Amino acid sequence: MKTAIIGAIVGATMLLTQFVLAQAPPPRVLGLMKAVIIPASDAVFVVGKAPPKSEREWAAVASGASRLVDAGKVLANEAPLEGTADWIRLANAMADAAAVAGKAAKEKNVDAALDAGDVLYTTCEDCHRQFVKK
Ligand code: HEC
Repeated sequence: MKTAIIGAIVGATMLLTQFVLAQAPPPRVLGLMKAVIIPASDAVFVVGKAPPKSEREWAAVASGASRLVDAGKVLANEAPLEGTADWIRLANAMADAAAVAGKAAKEKNVDAALDAGDVLYTTCEDCHRQFVKK
């Protein structure tokens, strides 16, 4: 499980390199990825590196998850004209996974936070697979 999350972080970095070559999607989406979604999800994925040990560390996970829930709503409004329904479903799936991660963080449940991180990461990948052209 831990390895899966670390793999996810490494994967996210690799995806980043891959996206440099991608076609230009709406600029607002890229801005949202960089400003909110990437840092907020890193705050959640960090549980896979080392389980939070203090109140403050758990709060950082919960805060990242909560920012992701909000970002998911914003992202849903950025749906392209083609594949609109899929986009909205994928953005909502990200927000839902983030909400589960946030609940796990509030309960300080490491296993649940790791599981939610795994689900969260697949929601990132699912959208990129469909909407980020290589
Ligand atoms: C609903 C669709 C969708 C979801 C969900 C989504 N992304 Fe993205 N993401 C995109 C699109 C589209 C781009 C390409 C934006 C561009 O290049 O203009 C992108 C780009 C990126 C990039 C590359 C940024 C760059 O500098 O080129 C990273 C990294 C990234 N997303 C991470 C994530 C992570 C992590 C998650 C999940 C927590 C996530 N994304 C969820 C659609 C999505």
